[in-house]
Amino acid sequence: MIETDAISPSKPRGWDVGQGMNTSDAASPAFIGQRDERMTTNRIRWLLSAALLATLALGVWMRASLAGAWSMGFDFAHLRHAHSHLGAYGVLFPLAFLAWRSRGAPVPGRRTLVAYGAATALAVLGFLRAGYGPEAIIGSTVVGAIWLSSAFQLRRLMRRLDEPLALVPPGIVAAMVCVPFIAMTLRKDPAFAQHLVATFLGTLLLVVVTPSALSAIGARAFPSPLLTLAGLSGALALGVWPNVITRAGLAGYGLWLATVALQRSVAWPLRAAWGLVGLGLMAMAAGLVPNVRPSVIGALHFLVLGPVLLSLLPMLWPSQPRALEVFLLAAAGLVSAPLVAQALGLFEWTMQASAVGGALVFLGWLGVLFRRRRVAPGAVV
Ligand code: HEM
Repeated sequence: MIETDAISPSKPRGWDVGQGMNTSDAASPAFIGQRDERMTTNRIRWLLSAALLATLALGVWMRASLAGAWSMGFDFAHLRHAHSHLGAYGVLFPLAFLAWRSRGAPVPGRRTLVAYGAATALAVLGFLRAGYGPEAIIGSTVVGAIWLSSAFQLRRLMRRLDEPLALVPPGIVAAMVCVPFIAMTLRKDPAFAQHLVATFLGTLLLVVVTPSALSAIGARAFPSPLLTLAGLSGALALGVWPNVITRAGLAGYGLWLATVALQRSVAWPLRAAWGLVGLGLMAMAAGLVPNVRPSVIGALHFLVLGPVLLSLLPMLWPSQPRALEVFLLAAAGLVSAPLVAQALGLFEWTMQASAVGGALVFLGWLGVLFRRRRVAPGAVV
């Protein structure tokens, strides 16, 4: 079920509902509703923390092993599937749901979220055990159905020209259209299936996750139909259909992200990070950075670990010190820059540097989570 009585857009962002009530309010339906909402948020916070740490730990494990620190110990393809799907299903989408809710948009209700969590756990354990086996397919089908039903609930936002969330419904639908084609080509033509996966991931990141993160920080959008087209062409350029037209779309989309650097209402580390991603996408569109796997993996990780997570972070773990945010951004840069350098022909120490960056990202996030527990035992944040 999708909650339609979401928080109004005029409400301050964050989760400070219910503060300042007196005892006569305690039995009121509004108070009970707010208390339930707080409990749901606490549960989401726990689940998200666990999913985030597990995603990061799997990533660091793989990076260190690729750098020669230890053996993979598991089938690499299975580990990579478990890592990337846990990150998408268990971290990025739940954070996006919170971003939608903070803007007054409908999000999945409590029972749907329980089904979503169970399906995510089933899919991730399935990917670890057997790659695209039966558990992974069943879990992913349930997750995909919940994404599609959220897209349907958000459809009215598509009329809003200035709202980044207007990109989300077409983004989810376009990403889901890729899935049957990936399944059909996986065995027959694995190289083409990889390009389709890149387009699928590009669509999720450029047309769903990034607009959700930018909407959470109140960034301004270019007219949303233009951005939707630019984001979808960008995803095609990064995967199945790189040509002059789709690259122009990628450049236009990059330009939007680059302009976030000029928006004074956004904190400077975030402006710098979004601006860097925008310039990076424009450089890829112009062919200055080759569109090969190391640069795509590098760009993807900087986008996710840097501006996306840091834009969405205050919704669950507010009031982090600026120094910790800058540390997390620098660590994300250390994960990604060596991979982009690899794509440009530099190999010395790149694997080791990226692995060190991953370990620092993990430590930084432990710091965020540990700090919340120390600062606010039982406090409403
Ligand atoms: C929330 C955080 C993260 C998300 C959402 C995420 C997502 C992804 C995605 C989508 C892929 C591509 C999978 C594929 O093409 O099949 C991937 C691959 C990978 N990620 Fe992450 N990742 C995260 C954090 C990290 C961290 C911190 C590290 C460690 C430095 C890391 C290391 C890796 C490695 C080693 C690969 C495989 C690269 C390859 O195949 O060459 N990830 N990740």
